[in-house]
Amino acid sequence: MPGLTLGDTIPNLEVETTHGRTKLHDYIGDRWTIIFSHPGDFTPVCTTELGKMAAYTEEFARREVKLLGLSCDDVQSHKEWIKDIEAYTPGSKVTYPIAADPKREIIKQLNMVDPDEKDSSGNNLPSRALHIVGPDKKIKLSFLYPASTGRNMDEVLRALESLQKAAKHKIATPANWKPGEPVLIPPSVSNEQAKRMFPQGFQTCGLPSKKEYLRFTQV
Ligand code: BEZ
Repeated sequence: MPGLTLGDTIPNLEVETTHGRTKLHDYIGDRWTIIFSHPGDFTPVCTTELGKMAAYTEEFARREVKLLGLSCDDVQSHKEWIKDIEAYTPGSKVTYPIAADPKREIIKQLNMVDPDEKDSSGNNLPSRALHIVGPDKKIKLSFLYPASTGRNMDEVLRALESLQKAAKHKIATPANWKPGEPVLIPPSVSNEQAKRMFPQGFQTCGLPSKKEYLRFTQV
């Protein structure tokens, strides 16, 4: 993803949303925030994605995470479309705001333009981009999917949990990690430091190299 990338501060853009106007920094406040774009309203994959996000709203709220959807359609279109999303996902309400971007300024600045997708007038459309923004308003993780591939919101939740745990405990999470499973001690932490940081102990994997870099602990 060229442009906005990991570690960058999210630009403080003014956005019009289904919940009114706001500036991104005001919306984020001091919370973890997920900003996710979709190519367009009233399209099939997007309807399933936003419905799934709505179904997971409680999960995100428990982790004190705010959500913000975004596409180029206007707010009135979003409000009409929400009725379809909720009908498709019974029992779920779209309680998170969806931002509008008819001028395509926000998707450019947030690095969410899909060069392969255009509307009937030849205007750019957003990719399925997703930024997880930390309470410091910096980008901690980005996904970039094409229009044809709906995102897995379980993976969004899993990645978020990894980020939050890493920020809190200075750990890292292994491939296919799931919440509750052992975590890894990063290479920047010496064994001496690890003993202080993780009084619960840690296990070092014996490896042919005899290097002690694969260390698991539980947090
Ligand atoms: C969809 O959401 O289904 C979609 C949107 C734009 C292009 C292709 C698929």
